Amino acid sequence: MEQLSIRRVYVWQLPVRFYHWLNALAVLALAVTGYIIGKPLALAIASEASYSYWFGTARFIHFLAAFLFFFNFLFRIYWGFVGNVFARWQNFLPFRKEQLREAVDVLKVDILQATVTPLESVGHNPLAGFTYFLTFLAFLFQSVTGFGMYAAMSDSWLPRMFAWIVPLMGGDFAVRQWHHMMMWFFILFSIVHVYLVFYHDYVEGRGVISSMAGGWKFVEKRQK
Ligand code: HEM
Ligand code: HEM
Repeated sequence: MEQLSIRRVYVWQLPVRFYHWLNALAVLALAVTGYIIGKPLALAIASEASYSYWFGTARFIHFLAAFLFFFNFLFRIYWGFVGNVFARWQNFLPFRKEQLREAVDVLKVDILQATVTPLESVGHNPLAGFTYFLTFLAFLFQSVTGFGMYAAMSDSWLPRMFAWIVPLMGGDFAVRQWHHMMMWFFILFSIVHVYLVFYHDYVEGRGVISSMAGGWKFVEKRQK
């Protein structure tokens, strides 16, 4: 049997883990209710209209999840400046030479199923980090277009701050189309993301998945 000397590293602080799972739940709720808003079910219920307010409830859940999602996202931006070395922004913009080299190694592992272990980074690998950065841009887009549309139904200061988005993007219809299309980005991202974390959990053998629950990863002792 292969003998490995392992040490454990506290990688994901509680705020990062809390952010991650609240974000995953909010995105799930937003995608399900958003899909329903975009393609409402033609339910024929033989009752007084005010008793069958299910579509209003779907919209309410969408807006509730939207506020949670948005403030959670703002919090993660802040944590990128004050969190530990694995949570910081430099992990999401991997433009140093050795990070680019490792990103190519990760592509070999993910696409060619090659064995290039052990990968160097202990936190996000550079390719994953950059993908999360793109996801953060998509979060921003979804928040801006969502609050832009919401401004038409609310006098509150937060949505009103985004009211200028709708005319800028060519009106309500166009904004809804873009907002809808971006939902598919999240669905695709989530499928590939869950596949890749399971795959990396297997090839790296460092407890990648459980690290988002307990915070710890297990790395070979010779490493940083
Ligand atoms: C991952 C995040 C989100 C996803 C996947 C998502 C998805 C969707 C989808 C698919 C629609 C239906 C569009 C259509 O008519 O075809 C929608 C509508 C809408 N969303 Fe989102 N959304 C997200 C975040 C947000 C946020 C942060 C807000 C901010 C308030 C928001 C506000 C709205 C509004 C106002 C509508 C229009 C509702 C209506 O006219 O009845 N969304 N969303
Ligand atoms: C069962 C479902 C999920 C599991 C098991 C899971 C697991 C993980 C794990 C293990 C990591 C760290 C991996 C690494 O080091 O690169 C991670 C990071 C991340 N995941 Fe997920 N994830 C799930 C769902 C989602 C969903 C639905 C989203 C959003 C659409 C999401 C967004 C992210 C983001 C943005 C990060 C980076 C976290 C940060 O540094 O702030 N995840 N996930």
